[in-house]
Amino acid sequence: MQELTLTKPDDWHLHLRDGAALASVVAHSARQFARAIVMPNLQPPVTTVAAALAYRDRILSALPEGANFDPLMTLYLTESTPIAEVEKAAGHAFIQAFKLYPAGATTHSDAGVAKLERIYPLLEAMEKQDVPLLVHGESIAREIDIFDREKAFIDAELDTIIRRFPALRVVFEHATTRDAVQFVRAAGPLVAATLTAQHLLYNRNSLLAGGIRPHFYCLPVLKREIHRQALLEAATSGEAKFFLGTDSAPHPQSGKESACGCAGCYTAHAAIELYAEAFESVGKLENLERFASFNGPRFYRLPVNAEKITLQKTPSEIPARFPFGEEWLIPLRAGESLVWKLMAN
Ligand code: DOR
Ligand code: ZN
Repeated sequence: MQELTLTKPDDWHLHLRDGAALASVVAHSARQFARAIVMPNLQPPVTTVAAALAYRDRILSALPEGANFDPLMTLYLTESTPIAEVEKAAGHAFIQAFKLYPAGATTHSDAGVAKLERIYPLLEAMEKQDVPLLVHGESIAREIDIFDREKAFIDAELDTIIRRFPALRVVFEHATTRDAVQFVRAAGPLVAATLTAQHLLYNRNSLLAGGIRPHFYCLPVLKREIHRQALLEAATSGEAKFFLGTDSAPHPQSGKESACGCAGCYTAHAAIELYAEAFESVGKLENLERFASFNGPRFYRLPVNAEKITLQKTPSEIPARFPFGEEWLIPLRAGESLVWKLMAN
């Protein structure tokens, strides 16, 4: 196949940051996606409907002239989120979900939840109001090996949550293991997962073999090949439970190339092209549209986009870096080539 036309996709998990950083990256997402679920892990975190609406306005103002991009907002769950905020969010057209960060699990998660039992009343309210819960599924127990944290979270926490709140819609964000795929498949139709391009294309060798490559470091961390194979099989299966969420997470070059580098891969510059490459690698390009354009809206109960995009099999170069406020942003696969190219509409 040399050309592929599909319904315009959406990104169901995206970090856009704020201020000059936001202005530097938002056009990359708007170029290919109609909508994105925007993560609330700013500093301070976006914990209220009012803060999310103000952030949405800043995103819209940062868009290039003529861009057509709808930011779908999320609120950051804390142990002190009032129940009233859940009720307020439930009725609001611009707010889609709450994001659960286990405290300290990842970038800007310090205000997250240390003990899940403390937010059970909030989860009950979300279940009642039918507001989805988006989960960063990693254990925060320090003694647990970083490569085992996803499974540990599923076994010790998530399993309990879905049993206790059976009508709660849950997205297991950026699933990275075969265990997560199995868990999501075994759970009912209200449990789904997003999958990133980097976890479909790379395993931990890309991060660690032959030298440490900080631009492949994200959380949850890249895993071994059996997990990548399981994620790729799930993504390309066409099953409604799996959909596109880039987790594109920009950090300045200085923050990544450091003795203690930040977690986050930047993929928004070429996301749909990278996913196309992953699907083509297993001969499943025909299922890319379900994963990228149909399964997400179905879960969020939103209409499918009317526009189309076209990808052509034409090699192109990824720039070595992009401006990022006063700094530089190093994209995934910087300076290397892409197999698929998104054509201008
Ligand atoms: O790698 C990551 N980066 N994982 C996350 O969960 C957060 C994100 C960020 O905000 O940088
Ligand atoms: Zn994320």
